[in-house]
Amino acid sequence: MNRFLKGLPKVSSRLSLRRPDDWHVHLRDGALLQAVAPATARSFARAIVMPNLNPPITSVAAAVAYGARIRAALPEGSCFSPLLTAYLTDTIEAEEIERGHAEGVFTACKLYPAHATTNAAAGVSDLARIEAVLAAMERIGMPLLIHGEVTDAEIDIFDREAVFIERHLAPLLLRHPALKVVLEHITTAEAVAFVRQAGPNLAATITPHHLHINRNAMFRGGLRPDFYCLPVAKRERHRLALRQAATSGETSFFLGTDSAPHPRSAKESACGCAGIYNAAYALESYAEVFEQEGALDRLEAFASLHGPAFYGFPVNEGTITLVREAHTVPPRLQGNAAGGASTELVPFHAGQVLQWRLADDG
Ligand code: DOR
Ligand code: ZN
Repeated sequence: MNRFLKGLPKVSSRLSLRRPDDWHVHLRDGALLQAVAPATARSFARAIVMPNLNPPITSVAAAVAYGARIRAALPEGSCFSPLLTAYLTDTIEAEEIERGHAEGVFTACKLYPAHATTNAAAGVSDLARIEAVLAAMERIGMPLLIHGEVTDAEIDIFDREAVFIERHLAPLLLRHPALKVVLEHITTAEAVAFVRQAGPNLAATITPHHLHINRNAMFRGGLRPDFYCLPVAKRERHRLALRQAATSGETSFFLGTDSAPHPRSAKESACGCAGIYNAAYALESYAEVFEQEGALDRLEAFASLHGPAFYGFPVNEGTITLVREAHTVPPRLQGNAAGGASTELVPFHAGQVLQWRLADDG
């Protein structure tokens, strides 16, 4: 405890929010799904679940089956609703997407440029190949969620988001002005500026890790695979632009954790996987940022109101409560290892003290 506070009564405050949603999460499958689904369901009422499984979710039938596996992994009595997405490929049919949307199975489609990230090998090689799908989505009001990075090896990895915006996103929005688009997990001041100047059909999600770390985190004292994700964290000025955007109250920025668990063995290896597992303390992590920015009164809008408004969904019933109570994040989370796969995870903020804690009684 800060020595100046010693002897003073413990400062304790509570913050109640309408129950929030996570508009971008990886819940995985099998043993890892069992290990991580309860954490997301504890904090969030709904979540947009990424389809980059192996093999990816490219059909209505695969999504229905995945939704059942997610529900089976939830604690008894959980009211959490997974919102499923279709993984766009060069050959996916517009009819399959439209049927999935009409049947309430697909909430949105995810665009991974081919080879951009984990399980993106089957992604889209050229936007021209999915023109018919994009036209159908625009017509039926189905959101397109974009991993916004070019994949050209000659483009510096720290520039790939900004180049994607200029080369692909801006022309896409001109071709499809009524298409609803979410630029996922933005990492740059350029992305913030682009979203601001666009109309109401473009929004962006912001992760807790991109609000907390800049690119130095990956190299502090040695190589730190637990801070490696894609898009990779950028310079400090970009982090500051993201913090300003997230806490600004502007409706086009909302919560999406991009919690992307990989077993510790897959992160800490010669070719470590991209992804940060933050679901266990995501809300607490965002609360820390909003408090530091003097914007706790805007956390609810970012976490619980802007996302539903963009997607055209009602806001959630009920509330959650955050308590101002310092706690240390465990260095490792040992998940359920059923099936033989190791699910040992290093959570974001491992070993650090966070000031806010989600109350057990909600
Ligand atoms: O860091 C990341 N991990 N970025 C992504 O886009 C995918 C994700 C994953 O699935 O592991
Ligand atoms: Zn993601």
